[in-house]
Amino acid sequence: MKRLLFVLIGALFAACSGRGPADLDLIPAPRTVEHSGGAYRLPEVMTVACGDSALFAARDFLAHALPATGAGELLLGTEGDVCLALDRSLADGAYRLEVASDGVRIAAGSYGGVISAIATLRQLAAVGGGETLPAVKIEDAPRYAWRGYMLDVARHFFTKEQVKALLLRMAEYKFNKFHWHLTDDQGWRIEIRRYPQLTEQGAWRDPATHQNDITCAERAEQTLDPAYRLPEALLRTDAEGRTLYGGYYTQDDIREVVAYAATLGIDVIPELDMPGHSLKIIESFPALSCAGKAAWGETFSSPLCLGNDATLEFAKNVYKEVFELFPFEYVHLGADEVEKIAWTNCPKCQSRIRMHRLGDEHGLQAWFVREMESFFAAHGRKLIGWDEIAGDNLSPTAVVQWWRSWMGSTLTQSLEAGNSVILSPVEYLYLDGTQNRNSLLKVYGYDPAAERIAGHESQVLGLHANLWTETVPTFDRACYQIFPRLFAASELAWSTQPKDAAGFERRAAVHMQRLDAEGWNYRIPDLGGFCDENVFLDRTVVEVVKPFGSVVVRYTTDGSVPTASSPLYEGPITVDADCTLMFRRFTASGKAGDTQRARFVKSSLLAPTETGRTLSPGLTVRWYDYVGEACGEIESATLRSESVAASVAIPEQVKGNIGLVFTGYLDIPEDGIYSFYLYTDDGSTLKVDGRMVVDNDGPHSRTERSGQIALARGLHPVEIRYFDSNGGILEAGMIDAQGRRVPIPSQMLRH
Ligand code: ACM
Ligand code: ZN
Repeated sequence: MKRLLFVLIGALFAACSGRGPADLDLIPAPRTVEHSGGAYRLPEVMTVACGDSALFAARDFLAHALPATGAGELLLGTEGDVCLALDRSLADGAYRLEVASDGVRIAAGSYGGVISAIATLRQLAAVGGGETLPAVKIEDAPRYAWRGYMLDVARHFFTKEQVKALLLRMAEYKFNKFHWHLTDDQGWRIEIRRYPQLTEQGAWRDPATHQNDITCAERAEQTLDPAYRLPEALLRTDAEGRTLYGGYYTQDDIREVVAYAATLGIDVIPELDMPGHSLKIIESFPALSCAGKAAWGETFSSPLCLGNDATLEFAKNVYKEVFELFPFEYVHLGADEVEKIAWTNCPKCQSRIRMHRLGDEHGLQAWFVREMESFFAAHGRKLIGWDEIAGDNLSPTAVVQWWRSWMGSTLTQSLEAGNSVILSPVEYLYLDGTQNRNSLLKVYGYDPAAERIAGHESQVLGLHANLWTETVPTFDRACYQIFPRLFAASELAWSTQPKDAAGFERRAAVHMQRLDAEGWNYRIPDLGGFCDENVFLDRTVVEVVKPFGSVVVRYTTDGSVPTASSPLYEGPITVDADCTLMFRRFTASGKAGDTQRARFVKSSLLAPTETGRTLSPGLTVRWYDYVGEACGEIESATLRSESVAASVAIPEQVKGNIGLVFTGYLDIPEDGIYSFYLYTDDGSTLKVDGRMVVDNDGPHSRTERSGQIALARGLHPVEIRYFDSNGGILEAGMIDAQGRRVPIPSQMLRH
């Protein structure tokens, strides 16, 4: 009886509160899901009833969401297999979705809410193999109104078809702002009718002499990955027989993309970066620069000359055409990374500073932003700029896109000045950074509420992930950078569910397998079952653990990079002599992923040490005032303190310049092979019995390295070193038989 009651209560709980959004693998996780277990069989041909003719535009996205169902009648009304309606009592972006045995009912507070509901429907259809939908009642609303994604098409060009494919993915994950970075020093990608030179010259370059293209070609050689090769379709031969790379969007192309985005509930935010990042303008119009030619300053390119009235006239003429093409509320001026030396040396710029009492070159930049902001406002548009526009009497109606995670002051300054902000901190939301086994959860772990925004929550419009494309020459490479991290960004921007990293990783794996099924590229999660450096006694059997079944693994035994024709990993590999195995992941459709190198060395158990004294728990840790780039040099700095650490972590009081040396003994419980890892920013090393086990040395961002050592039962001297100069990350631990990263048990640490 007791048991039956339990079952009943369990069933009630499932029906009332839902079994949790994870059941249906939805990303982003919705607010509430009731999932009673029934299903709706999709009809062969579907009638769609719209409560408002404005919703007819959602038809194509609905057909995309339910591909096994033919498009039938589209009616104005409330009777159909799928009913879409606007319900103004719901918040903007919010929706209610009900799948019952007789059909699907969607009501939303806005067109965007209907799109988000259809995005959920698409994921529900995947649960039912495309043929049925699980019966659910979902009530959902976004955490943030602004859920943005930026694509840089200047450094490398992406066709309008590729942009549209990304827009569709954005809608599937409930993003609603597409930020199109259309111009930069390396390319001008938008037709401006008044200044055709901008694309005639600025959309094309010689890849043999262009640094971004040279870097990509080098990576293509090193990684044997065709996704690093410039697409043939973007190469052309000029009148002199030179091969040029590039492309641009005609105004018709732009209108086509904008109209398509609007059907997906996505606003398109164009950015034509000024007054810095403007070499393509200056190459066509040298008179708009201070020195009369394109040049680089100390860090960034030399900007437009703001002392020249013609520059302002040019900028306004360009943006006038932009306003005609993009009917949305926000337009982005850029205004980041402006090298000001040219202005210091320019009589015209200095004269402008004096005439308007601007104080200095910072005042000159602020003046330009204010001028442009009033021009935008006169055309009914709100200006967005990168956080370099903060301060300096910025109008409170401008929106600041905060990106410099190391400069919290610009965020605070903007909020205190009354500006709205968009959060895109480099550390978490820049998707161009190198990825590793931890980078997906790094994005997922971002907590916008931890920024200093208290009291200003209503000014935070939302989140925005960015992809810069200096080393991203193809669509496949772009998808590798974006996915699966965009899933995490989607979750952050939309969901209000409590964080659950393991649950999210599991859902993300389901979505990666859907990318596989659709032939899309993504970063395949790391393989398990081995360390970077491995040891064995007589022989070992290497059993590779795949993140999920659709991943294909190929390998080599001669240290070379595996290719699509290397042997397929089909089962355990026996190793009985020193060797290097190179394992490479491929997507189901054969797109090359990352390579993992695993070195195997024959070893014997290292004998324990006799200390002849009683040891205490923990390790000794010495903190040195170290600034440098090598673990071996830490002791050359001044010793600041010595204490006992119960675990290997940065002690509470340690801040600023950090060089740490942990020493003591590992109390090994039984003979065996032990696996250790170090996940650090910057460098770290771990030695046991004086032997290097994990070498993660050198200056670098968060990186994991791992290694093994064969140890006999008893005490073994251990030394762990770590350095960082701006408060980084130190995680040191062991890898258990299941591949889990766990702390070194405290009972094993002695000094
Ligand atoms: C930027 O990353 N320069 C905005
Ligand atoms: Zn000037």
